[in-house]
Order: sequence, then C-alpha cells, then structure tokens
Amino acid sequence: MARENIKVLIIDADKASAGKIAEILTPKGFSTILSYSGNDGIHKASYTSPDIVLLSYQLPDLESKEVLNRLKGFDRTIPIIIAMAVGGEKATVDLLKAGASDFLVKPVKSRDLLQAVKRVQAKRLADMEIQSQKFLSLGKLFPFLAHEIRNPLHAIGGALTVLQRRCNLKDDTIAQSIEIIREEVQRLNQFMQECLDFSRPPARRRFAQTDLNEVIRSSLNTLAPVIEAHPEKIEVITRLDDDLPKIKANFNEIKQVCHNILKNAIEAMKKRGKLEIHTSSAPHEKPRYAVINIIDTGTGIDEENLPYLFDPFFSTKSRGAGLGLALCKKIVVENHRGQIDIESKKNIGTTVTITLPFSP
Ligand SMILES: Nc1ncnc2c1ncn2[C@@H]1O[C@H](COP(=O)(O)OP(=O)(O)OP(=O)(O)O)[C@@H](O)[C@H]1O
Ligand SMILES: [Mg+2]
Repeated sequence: MARENIKVLIIDADKASAGKIAEILTPKGFSTILSYSGNDGIHKASYTSPDIVLLSYQLPDLESKEVLNRLKGFDRTIPIIIAMAVGGEKATVDLLKAGASDFLVKPVKSRDLLQAVKRVQAKRLADMEIQSQKFLSLGKLFPFLAHEIRNPLHAIGGALTVLQRRCNLKDDTIAQSIEIIREEVQRLNQFMQECLDFSRPPARRRFAQTDLNEVIRSSLNTLAPVIEAHPEKIEVITRLDDDLPKIKANFNEIKQVCHNILKNAIEAMKKRGKLEIHTSSAPHEKPRYAVINIIDTGTGIDEENLPYLFDPFFSTKSRGAGLGLALCKKIVVENHRGQIDIESKKNIGTTVTITLPFSP
C-alpha cells in the first residue's frame, strides 16, 4: 500500500501534541485525520476507515479503553497505538488485553513514532495476507463443493417431485416426510448459495449511481411474503430521506446486505415487533456519506457474542449458516469502503448502521 493511502487517525485532546504527530507523519507521506475527543474520534473512524489509530491515553470525555473497544467494534484488525504520559503497568496491561497494538511515551519522539507506525503496519499487512490466503482457499473450495453438492440436490428434488405425484398424499406421514425433504433440500441449496456469494471476488466493474431508497424498497418487496407469513405481526416503518443523493455502489450487493440484515431482524422478532428502516446522508462531511439504519425490537444480542457477529460461520441459530453478516461486512467494508456497526440490547432490540461513502 502506498503511504499516501495509509490513513492515520490521531485522537488527542492536546491540540499541540496531535498537531506535532501529524507534522511528523505527513512529510513521510501518511495522510492524517485529527480528532480532539473520544466521541469525535469514534465518529470520524466510523466514516473514514483509518488504517492506524494513534490514541492518547487521557481524553476529556471517555476512557481510552472504551474508545479502543468501540474502534475495535468497527474493525477488529485495526492497529491502535496508545500514547501515554501517565498510566502505569496496570493500565498498559488492561489496554493490551483489550487489543492495543503498541505504546508510545508522551511527548512522542519522531523516531519512536515512525518505528511504531511501521511495526503495526507491517503486522497488519501480514495479517491481511493470511486472511486473503484463507479467502483464496475458501474461494477455490466453495465452487467445487457447491458443484458436488448441488448436482445430487437437483436429483433429489426431481425424484421427490416424482414421488409426490405417485404417492398417496392423503397419508399424512408421507406428505409430511416429503415436505421435510423438500425444505431440507431448499435449505442446503440456500447454504451453498451463501457460501458461493461469500467466496465470490468483488464486482467493482458493476458500480453505478445507486438510489439507496430504491434498494430498500426492493429488499422489502422481496421479503414481503416472509413478513406476511411470520407467525407474529411485524409492523414495518420506513423513513426514507427523499433528498438522499445517489451513491456509487453495486445495487445487487447492497440489496444483498439489506436483505441479510432485514432477515436477521425478522428472525429475531419472536413476538410482535417493529421493524424500522431509515436512510439519511451527511453531504457536507468529508468524505460525503449515506447512512442506512435498520432497527428491530427483537431478542437483542448477548453482549459476549457482539465481537463475533461478523465472523464467518458464527451463528446462534440452529439452522443458521452464520454467513449473512460476514458477507455484509465483506460487501460494505471491502467492496464499498464503508462501515457496518451493530448496537444491541438484550430483550430490547438491535440497530444495524451501514455507512457508505458517496464514492468508494
Ligand atoms: N437483528 C438481530 N437480532 C438478534 N440477533 C442477531 C441479529 N442480527 C444478527 N444476530 C446474531 O448474529 C448471528 C450471526 O448472524 P448472521 O446473519 O451472520 O448468521 P445467521 O443469521 O445465524 O445465519 P445466516 O447465514 O442464515 O444468515 C446470528 O446467529 C444472531 O445470533
Ligand atoms: Mg442471518
């Protein structure tokens, strides 16, 4: 990665100290983003997707550990270097456990800073390489598996149709058994499709001016039969910004993201529930971005599960592949340079926020 493409977010309430760090990094070709509080730093990280964060230990509004946790919530792999004047051993161990990558003593010396940045960047590139090797091997394995599994599934589906025609469907046991086989065949087919979607390389060439409100309407249309067939009433409320500018995106991929998130929301609502979808934009921010919020009043998510939601194959459902959110993250973060963030409270509900730059 060329250095000008490496974004360093500096979060430090001491403007002089933040400025000095930027002055060291900018001539070396890094691009820097300055922030003077924890909350502002989290907000800026949510739409700038920094490659490295330099976080001051002492902040006026939030504990540095909380800022670190929230930043790791956006991207678990992001290197965070802590700059501290005070703190001591316990604070260092705490921050290390929470995922800090490196430490610097304040006032930060130019040589130490550049070495630390170089170190964490090299480690991140190595991790990304391992990750992409994993994707590469999954990418080779899935199409092969899909082929091997789908062919017999088609044959089973065909044979089932023949059985259905010939059997006495008035016999409940036979009718039920046939229905079970049909549902399981369908589920396996869907699982293979999710694996294929997950391992497919990004379709950059199909980026076009996209109306996100249209994407939402189209996803809701596709899911209308699921919402109607749901055992409990789900009230759908949309608040779509009429002035939302079109953004450069892949319509089908973003539709897939909305579909997966809406499906999760519907599945989480075991009782009567409310599903809200909002769109909005921040046309004056740099870079400009659009936001989609999907809010449900479902079961909510156990706090201990929050760090794993985007991991491939993580699922708490007996019939879940655990690929829905992993695919969402791949599409939003890797393919569109956006952010996806989940906030949830047990027994209250879940809010998923998707932030997409106007131009990735
Ligand atoms: N809106 C939500 N409410 C409650 N839990 C959720 C919500 N969204 C996601 N989850 C949790 O995150 C897990 C992972 O979601 P993900 O969509 O990746 O997989 P899945 O829904 O289990 O399977 P599938 O691959 O069929 O989507 C879910 O199993 C569930 O525990
Ligand atoms: Mg899902």
